[in-house]
Amino acid sequence: MKENKASSPKASNDGVYHLRLRQGDVPNYVLLPGAPERTLKIAEDWENVQEVASYREYKTVSGSYKGVPIACTSTGIGGPSSEIAIHELNTLGVHTAIRVGTTGCIVKNFDLGDLIIPIACVRNDGTSNSYVEPEFPAFANPIVVKALVQACENLGFKYGFGLTYTSGSFYLGQGRPLYEDDSSYWPSWADKIIPDLQQKRVTNIEMETAGQFVVGYLHDMRMGAILSVISNRVLDRWGDNGGEKRACLAASEAIRILHQWDSEKSSGGCVCSL
Ligand code: URA
Repeated sequence: MKENKASSPKASNDGVYHLRLRQGDVPNYVLLPGAPERTLKIAEDWENVQEVASYREYKTVSGSYKGVPIACTSTGIGGPSSEIAIHELNTLGVHTAIRVGTTGCIVKNFDLGDLIIPIACVRNDGTSNSYVEPEFPAFANPIVVKALVQACENLGFKYGFGLTYTSGSFYLGQGRPLYEDDSSYWPSWADKIIPDLQQKRVTNIEMETAGQFVVGYLHDMRMGAILSVISNRVLDRWGDNGGEKRACLAASEAIRILHQWDSEKSSGGCVCSL
């Protein structure tokens, strides 16, 4: 071990510390829902489903989708718990990960239940600042984006691309006062959070994608995300409209496509290493 570096702790089952997974427990392609409950929703479309580990916010389920080995691990909410999941999955050999999440849209052309495939993120997540300077971009792997698009096309799902704002806060940082009667902390700049993002043509807001893209990229992983719109901040409405289920299925289908492209050693002639 080099000077000024610490070794990683091990779990009591000799697995990675937080996820409690051991080598061989998951394949190289993993989906990343935030909520532990969503792992089971994702696995409704799989065969040979097995719950592999469950500890704190991290629940891992493995199985196969149309014959392709696949797993999903919940990351919890926000950047710090995502960083832990991605780091530990990387040590287990995972090279491709797709976040399956929810988001709030702040533009008129998306509505409840729509699917957003983020291309890049504004990094207000907090966690990625522990890794890189503020100017460093958070962006999706283009081949994973291509697979997500192909998946949505195969399944006939409506989708669009996103410039996603990842916030380290759900309430104030996303323009939600603690109380609605004007009695709670509300600095003057909070009024401008959403309008300023709209000026910058940001499409949606959530809490995990930027941190995941940066940490995954630095670990040489292919990262992508598909987000279902659960809140409409233009019309101040909440609702799922079946979007979560569509995002889960599209992400599994994208993994199948990536697996196929990888086994054919072809991704449309692309030689980029991003
Ligand atoms: N997730 C968020 O962080 N914000 C929303 O508005 C919806 C989902």
